[in-house]
Order: sequence, then C-alpha cells, then structure tokens
Amino acid sequence: MTTLILGGAGRSGTRILDRFAASGLPARPASRRTGFDWEDRETWASALRGASAAYVCFTPDLAFPGTPDKMAALGVLAAQHGLERLVLLSGRGEEGARLSEAALRSGGVPTTVLRCSWFQQNFSEHFLAGPVRRGRLRLPAPDVPEAFVDLGDVADAAVLALTRPDPLDATYELSGPELLTFAQVAEVLTDACARRIVFESVAVPTFVDDLAADGVPAEDATPLAHLFTDILDGRNASLAHGIQALLGRQPSSLKAYAGRTAASGVWS
Ligand SMILES: NC(=O)c1ccc[n+]([C@@H]2O[C@H](COP(=O)([O-])OP(=O)(O)OC[C@H]3O[C@@H](n4cnc5c(N)ncnc54)[C@H](OP(=O)(O)O)[C@@H]3O)[C@@H](O)[C@H]2O)c1
Repeated sequence: MTTLILGGAGRSGTRILDRFAASGLPARPASRRTGFDWEDRETWASALRGASAAYVCFTPDLAFPGTPDKMAALGVLAAQHGLERLVLLSGRGEEGARLSEAALRSGGVPTTVLRCSWFQQNFSEHFLAGPVRRGRLRLPAPDVPEAFVDLGDVADAAVLALTRPDPLDATYELSGPELLTFAQVAEVLTDACARRIVFESVAVPTFVDDLAADGVPAEDATPLAHLFTDILDGRNASLAHGIQALLGRQPSSLKAYAGRTAASGVWS
C-alpha cells in the first residue's frame, strides 16, 4: 500500500515526497501532470486506487466557492477506496476553509487537518520572491504581526500524521516561533541578504499591478490581495503550538529560513 500525495508537484508536496523517499516509504504524487485534475472528478478514482492514505493539498484555495462540494466528494471516494487516513493542508483563520475541512471529514475517513500560518517560503518560492529580489516589499499589509511557518516543518508534521501507527482524527494549528510584522520581516531579510530590503505599505490596486508585472495571472492576483486584507486583521496574531504538539520540538524561525535561502542565491 502506498501514500498518495495530492498536489505532489507543489511546494509542500515535493517536500513530503522527499521525506518519504529518504525513509524508503512508498508514496506517489498526483496533480494535473499525472492525470489528476480537481476540475474533472472522472480523474480522481484512478489516483486513489491502491492508496492507504492521502495528503490533500487543494489548489487554489480551500476557501474558494465550490470547494466544499469537491472535498465532500473526495471524502466519500476515499472511504469507498478503503483509505484509512487523510491529512488536509488548510489555512489558519480562513472561515471558508472550515466548510471544506468538515466536508472532507464527512466521508468518514479519519482526517488530520493542518491549519497553517503564512508560509515563510512565500518570500522565495511564490509571489513575494520578486519583491525581495528588487529590495522592495510593496504590500497592502497593515502593522499586524503574523507567525510565518517553515514549509519544512509543515512537511515534517504531515509525514508524521501520514505514517504514525494510528491515524490522528484531529486539527492542529501550525505557526512559526515568533510574531513579525512585514516591516520586521524586511529587517530580517535585510540582515540575511546583507543589502537593504524595505517594506512599503501600498493600496490593493498597486499591489495587484505589481503582481501583474511579476507575471501573476489576474485571476490569482485579486484573491492574493484579499488574503492581505482578510487574514491580516489580527485574527492570526498569536502563536500556535501544532509543531510542538506533533513533532515535540520548536518550529524553525524566519531568521533561519532567511539565512539558508540567502545562501542558496535565490534572491541574488
Ligand atoms: N501560501 C501560504 O502561505 C499558505 C498558507 C496556508 C495554507 N495554504 C494553502 O496551501 C495550499 C497550497 O499548497 P502548496 O503551496 O504546497 O501548493 P502549490 O505549490 O501552490 O501547488 C500544488 C500543485 O497543485 C497542482 N494543481 C494546480 N491546479 C490543479 C488542478 N486543477 N488539479 C490538480 N492539481 C492541480 C499543481 O501541479 P500541476 O501543475 O502538475 O497540476 C501544483 O504544483 C493551498 O490550499 C493554500 O490555501 C497556503
């Protein structure tokens, strides 16, 4: 029996697959490049067949309209195919995502939900990589702190939930070890890169224009902008303890991530 990694070509999925490979445990990715498409339910059964567990990383976002229906259908199909556990990647403070979490669970398969803070890797592997390279973090962000989480910690938590002897039918909130505003993030990145990176608060339309200039499609740019206005209202301005509860250690800091990432040359 193998573990299915839905979204296996993405940022969290590749890290999880690397960990399975390093441990010699069987796992296989599924996404459009393997024939699995969230928009075509006919493609789902063949992906699930033969799997005993699945990591569920939905793209673009669990909070999007229509997603709870998809999660409910996947939960039923997973039960029909005999899957014994699911691990769902979710977002902290996203009210819409709660419906998707409940819908997946309604199929009856024990499900571990990992509600994550903002990924640290958004600054290097996603829409904030360009701004960091240019030395200008122009964001519609208020002076509200966020507890940025390392995707390596998220992957470790997911692998633990997928491989421990018994399934964990529970919800965990995962964050990093410190609360930082975007202005403070710019200071951490400045130290790591040894060049000035400034934070500028801008209006949403300016941010959307910047994203377009970086090649982010318009249909993705507006939801990303809303993440700033919706999620950064203080609701997530606290530390979560899911990494400690699951892994028995402290989460990795933004400073550690920034040091590693600067050394890799990705921001040069
Ligand atoms: N970024 C954050 O700070 C943050 C924080 C908390 C939660 N989240 C959640 O994390 C999830 C994204 O995780 P991630 O960053 O690991 O994923 P990702 O890198 O954005 O993407 C995962 C993979 O999904 C596949 N995909 C895209 N459209 C698809 C479709 N229609 N059908 C099947 N596969 C599709 C793509 O591979 P193919 O091209 O091969 O299809 C892609 O590589 C989202 O649900 C987001 O809400 C993000």
